[in-house]
Amino acid sequence: MYSEIVSRDMPIAEMLARKPKGIIFSGGPKSVHVEGAPSIDDAVYRGGVPILGICYGAQLVAQQLGGEVARSGIGEYGRTALEVTSSSALFGELPLQQDVWMSHADSIVAAPAGFKVTARTDAVPVAALEDPERAVYGVQFHPEVVHTPRGQEILKHFLYDVCGCRPSWTMVSIIEQAVDQIRAQVGDEKVICGLSGGVDSAVAAALVHKAIGEQLTCVFVDTGLLRMNEAEQVEETFRRQFQIDLVHVKAADRFVEALNDIADPERKRKIIGETFIRVFEEVAADHQDARFLVQGTLYPDIIESGTKDAAKIKSHHNVGGLPDDLQFELVEPLRNLFKDEVRVMGEELGLPEEIVWRQPFPGPGLAVRIVGTITPERLEILRRADAVVVEEIKRAGLYHDLWQSFAVLPVVRSVGVMGDERTYAYPIVIRAVTSDDAMTADWARLPYDVLERISSRLINEVPGVNRVAFDVTSKPPGTIEWE
Ligand code: XMP
Repeated sequence: MYSEIVSRDMPIAEMLARKPKGIIFSGGPKSVHVEGAPSIDDAVYRGGVPILGICYGAQLVAQQLGGEVARSGIGEYGRTALEVTSSSALFGELPLQQDVWMSHADSIVAAPAGFKVTARTDAVPVAALEDPERAVYGVQFHPEVVHTPRGQEILKHFLYDVCGCRPSWTMVSIIEQAVDQIRAQVGDEKVICGLSGGVDSAVAAALVHKAIGEQLTCVFVDTGLLRMNEAEQVEETFRRQFQIDLVHVKAADRFVEALNDIADPERKRKIIGETFIRVFEEVAADHQDARFLVQGTLYPDIIESGTKDAAKIKSHHNVGGLPDDLQFELVEPLRNLFKDEVRVMGEELGLPEEIVWRQPFPGPGLAVRIVGTITPERLEILRRADAVVVEEIKRAGLYHDLWQSFAVLPVVRSVGVMGDERTYAYPIVIRAVTSDDAMTADWARLPYDVLERISSRLINEVPGVNRVAFDVTSKPPGTIEWE
């Protein structure tokens, strides 16, 4: 199904002019009772378009149409047993008892007049409500997360049975539309694309190449913050296997110098974002003053860098880390997609499996895995440690099951004893997570024997390391990277 994410501020007439078959109100971090809580013009309820409110969205529906949302103090977080109490197009033939994922503090305690309550939980009386006459629906739980096992079916019921949609939005049609948009945006101008070797920039480059061919020049920047042998691998794949016009900029000294003595994670991210752009500007000047810059920005990068209604978690180097005086016009063909969709697109575009299924690696590279200041010595420790972790994870056959697996270098040191000598050295933290889209993640239950092998190799093979720890934090409350 084709969908667009628009701001709740968009005038309702403009929203309706796009002829949506259905409108979904998302969840959000605020309470409907606080000042400045996100709201929407209530003309939306008179537009004749079916509406589904999720979590905060359901509470907003209840509040705006005359129901009651209470700050009861009885929140629900995590897996919760739901009881469907009344027949509903949303639940169709699904079991009356099912687990759903909840994450809310306020609760709907009374549905608006004309609504019926269709599901409850032990803690809340209104877990789903609807007014089929007006086609307005609300669910307190999150059907969109994998932890609600029947959630996709509930969404399908809304889309197929309530909105009358049909599944015609395929990857082929997404690619065709993206190609048309890229051509319309850049015309016959020169374009450069930052290529990191990761899946996002590779897919963005392949897509833009499909759209405008030789107008595109790809730039690979060796920031000095890369993993072991990464620069050679990227060059090999893109220049030799794909015959893509690739400019390789060796900028390690420049990045490491710009980061000298910088310990604050947000400052690191901004410095890296800006240094990337300065390098691209120099390359552009050598390429007929290319005015367009392709980035493999994904939707989660945008959300986490902070939007009007989403809190800023961290400035992704390619969004919040961009300098204010950016001269380029950005071409970001993946900015409405999540990583799983980008991988499907990569396969459709014929990219090799080892690129499409590579674990994500952030643009700021090892810099956001070295807590505190970055020095060539600390970079070397982490680079060697990371290579050990990746090698052992691959050897154990776990690489593709994990969203990411890597090493982190904290700022503390601890005392140890090796060969009867006292040591005072760094620990390495092993981080391994499973995830579907990086918005949430679970720490991976790595087998003890794999942890043991990684631990003993790290201590034996990486000078400067005398202890190994395993990070058992999910996201939330942690993030995947340490900075
Ligand atoms: P966090 O640490 O926020 O990361 O849980 C979510 C996903 O995004 C990657 N990441 C980045 N990727 N530039 C990128 O290209 C960045 O600045 C950046 N920061 C985090 C991270 O590796 C994970 O996959």
